Amino acid sequence: MCGIVGYIGTENAKEILLNGLEKLEYRGYDSAGIALLNKEELTVVKEKGRIADLRKKVATDASGELGIGHTRWATHGKPSEENAHPHQSLSGRFVIVHNGVIENYSLLKDEYLENVPLKSDTDTEVIVQLIEKLSNEGLETKEAIRKTLKLLHGSYAICVIDQKEPNLLYAAKNKSPLLIGKGSSFNIIASDAMAALKETDQFIEIADEEMVILSRDSIQIETLDGEMIEREPFTAAIDASDIEKGTYPHYMLKEVDEQPAVMRRIIQSYQNEAGDLAVDHAVLDEVLNSDRIYIIACGTSSHAGYVGKAMIERFAKIPVEVHISSEFGYNIPLLSEKPLFMFITQSGETADSRQVLVKVKEMGYRTLTLTNVPGSTLDREADQSMYLHAGPEIAVASTKAYTAQVAVLSILAVAAGRAKGVEQAFEIDLSAELGIAATAMEAMVSSKELIEHIAGEFLATSRNAFFLGRSVDYFVAMEAALKLKEISYIQAEGFASGELKHGTIALIEDETPVFAIVTQENINWNIRGNVNEVLARGANACVFAMEGLEQPGDRLVIPHVHELLTPLVSVIPCQLLAYYAALHRDCDVDKPRNLAKSVTVE
Ligand code: M6R
Repeated sequence: MCGIVGYIGTENAKEILLNGLEKLEYRGYDSAGIALLNKEELTVVKEKGRIADLRKKVATDASGELGIGHTRWATHGKPSEENAHPHQSLSGRFVIVHNGVIENYSLLKDEYLENVPLKSDTDTEVIVQLIEKLSNEGLETKEAIRKTLKLLHGSYAICVIDQKEPNLLYAAKNKSPLLIGKGSSFNIIASDAMAALKETDQFIEIADEEMVILSRDSIQIETLDGEMIEREPFTAAIDASDIEKGTYPHYMLKEVDEQPAVMRRIIQSYQNEAGDLAVDHAVLDEVLNSDRIYIIACGTSSHAGYVGKAMIERFAKIPVEVHISSEFGYNIPLLSEKPLFMFITQSGETADSRQVLVKVKEMGYRTLTLTNVPGSTLDREADQSMYLHAGPEIAVASTKAYTAQVAVLSILAVAAGRAKGVEQAFEIDLSAELGIAATAMEAMVSSKELIEHIAGEFLATSRNAFFLGRSVDYFVAMEAALKLKEISYIQAEGFASGELKHGTIALIEDETPVFAIVTQENINWNIRGNVNEVLARGANACVFAMEGLEQPGDRLVIPHVHELLTPLVSVIPCQLLAYYAALHRDCDVDKPRNLAKSVTVE
């Protein structure tokens, strides 16, 4: 997590850094800071809290044509001004911002920095103190940085300023994202292109274990062994307007509303010349050559994975297992003979998923990533990729990425089934069904007033909530619960409703809010029985049912869609429920406490 940005050019870096950090705030928002170098005069400003707090603290006349900035998600040391980046070396000469985790920082401290009093609790400070130590021992700055990097174990993306070299900006990366934004008479370094899009649309990738030396008009990339690298810039696929909130009060609401349009974009993106939905041959080959698919994902992406499992097993007749990344990597189950590992990840940067990718590649297995971010780490490192085409998702709570994942998984499932000659895969006109789902999603995003009312009635003051479902509705119930707890801090649980009576029903008291999602005909009466059981124990129940299955007293009717595509539609009222519950409780919807959008630490 954490976001970093660096600038070297002819303009005052202050606004460029602050604007860039605002765009990176989704990566962490515990504290923030910038350093500006004006000739050899250095200004460092840090603040606990948000970029807005930092902005207030930076003097209006602060300036420098070289600068670095950071927004933090705390890993080592509590969120505080002392632990905020940038960190300085003992003399103050070297200044660093860092994203990642240095696993051996404690060993390095004991071995090399015994006599250096550290000012913070961070792993980062060790890096900058080491650079100064090696520089004091006679190494030139570039060599001191290179030697320091070789001592580090773990992940890092760093920017370093040497006060004595006001015309150079140093950077390096290993396992944490970082790229160069190329301008005319300036260059930028950032964790994400979003931070620099206002300045340039030309970007250059940096590979792991490379370091970069930037001046305002030159870019030098080297390996840690000093080999020079030539790399051409690419044009960013998104433009600055894609990442603005526009007239929306929150990114989350904007992203919820974008879902029908994303559905239509996915249909278009996967259509072949004949107008059929199709998947790249290389991807299909991977799927067809495997005897079992292992879906590896975290959070919302894993919930989409469960829906994907149902679809792949039904349409392609390939067994699928869904695993949580952080568990799988350290407790690998008995694998089939020809497994395919499918990583589902909005960001493509999730460290828990990446550690599995690295392990299974070492074991010689094939890999496929479904991601929203082309060029992200899991995209680059997997054998094959499929893209979600959801556009940048900025709110911490994932919404449009989930529905995009479900849609892309359905396309893959049907394409694989057809290639295998599975009858069920020919029975569905998926393009038409996804179109119908897009229209149904429109109806759901238009039900805001009703959902806001329900959120007020059921969730304004409650301390817990249950979401019930069976089969695919259970998968949506898990997602609904995650969304609610993540942004409204209400303790919530998504439950297979038949399982309630095996223990959890003991938690039902007078007024406990219980939401039931009912979209599957074959379980309509079973789940209604479960709803009656909780009603009999005093719960406040609210049913969202699909057209054709509705009963008097249900609070929302979900338009009819294909039975396996119902999560695309039923999830939307749940997303809105979480959104309005968070508003009722005065929570920061887009930046919930303790969280960050892109989870780049294990
Ligand atoms: O970028 P990823 O899809 O790999 O992220 C996985 C989870 O961290 C993410 O889905 C998280 O659960 C969301 N904040 C949920 O809204």
